Amino acid sequence: MINIALPKGRLGEKVYAMFEAAGYECPSIKENNRKLIFENEEKGLRYFWVKPSDVSIYVERGAADIGVAGKDILLEYEPDIYEMLDLNIGKCRMAVAAKKEFRDNGERTLKVATKFVNIARQYYAGIGRDIDIIKLNGSIEIAPILGLSDVIVDIVETGTTLKENDLEVKETVVPISARLIVNKTAFKFKTAQIEQILRELKEQVKTDD
Ligand code: PRP
Repeated sequence: MINIALPKGRLGEKVYAMFEAAGYECPSIKENNRKLIFENEEKGLRYFWVKPSDVSIYVERGAADIGVAGKDILLEYEPDIYEMLDLNIGKCRMAVAAKKEFRDNGERTLKVATKFVNIARQYYAGIGRDIDIIKLNGSIEIAPILGLSDVIVDIVETGTTLKENDLEVKETVVPISARLIVNKTAFKFKTAQIEQILRELKEQVKTDD
């Protein structure tokens, strides 16, 4: 049995559609109920829906052999897994944003509000800027408006959230997309099965044109 952790939500639906198109369907998953685990015994597959930010935990600890997680989560938590394939979906970017009029003159410690503490620290260490991190858990955009921080480091997809809160992107930190990840031990013992899934899934990846 191959255990596959899918991120619950819109991205997860797209991910499942790719698995389905690759020949790894599990029809019961389409029955709209509150069930979280679905099996296709004949194909030896078990899918389960987990919170997107938890996928890498299931995969790292071996509760799932395979999973799909955003590059943001992989960069932030650095789970000990194999990152095997860029699925080219769930695309967005990690960015520094601030009020339009904000200019960093580099004079004092920069106050940075974010959920992605590790990514923010690494980014500013890389450019040699002193920062004071303010860890928040959501609604990050409010921080610069209320003067809690100078800037935010957050995910920008369409840019609508920033726009509606009179903020703008100042710098791009890193592009983000969904990645197929594999448990290290599972890859050792289920190599052939996992490699086959990877091969077939790769054919479903759409390139940008
Ligand atoms: C993310 C992010 C922004 C928003 C950006 O939040 O934190 O708030 O999406 O998207 P946009 O550029 O298309 O407006 P998400 O909805 O993932 O949840 P969160 O509030 O828990 O971070």
